[in-house]
Amino acid sequence: MIELLLTVNGTPRTIEVEVRTTLLEVLREGLLLTGTKEACGVGECGSCMILLDGEPMPSCLVLAADADRCNVETVEGLASDGVLDEIQRAFVDTGAFQCGFCTPGMLVAAKALLRDHPDATPGEIKQGLSGVLCRCGSYTKIMKAFEVLTGRKT
Ligand code: FES
Ligand code: FES
Repeated sequence: MIELLLTVNGTPRTIEVEVRTTLLEVLREGLLLTGTKEACGVGECGSCMILLDGEPMPSCLVLAADADRCNVETVEGLASDGVLDEIQRAFVDTGAFQCGFCTPGMLVAAKALLRDHPDATPGEIKQGLSGVLCRCGSYTKIMKAFEVLTGRKT
């Protein structure tokens, strides 16, 4: 076992893990942050997307040991005092999901995208979200959410 220090959604967390434990397992099973989803488990779908030191990363591909002393942001960190952030609100208002399984990954990827490109073009949006697959095919509504967020026609 090894001891790690992670800052998760702004809170320092000390955890003990086996060397083979993934960051996704730490989040879901260790810290009970089950908003981050597991689907493919091999880095192809983006359901497990989190921000690792601010950059979108599939957490199923990250060994927890490699995240030691890193800053981790999950979907649970978006809302504040029970109030949805503007990205969550735009997704709700435009119905940008069906089953919602991809949505946590979409939201954190969107957070990084809009931080870097507040008025993202349709091409930048598609590029920024390309690591997260929506099995329900809700992409048209997701782009509508970005129309709200960027004020730009997609
Ligand atoms: S569960 Fe991690 S990329 Fe699919
Ligand atoms: S809303 Fe079902 S996977 Fe995207």
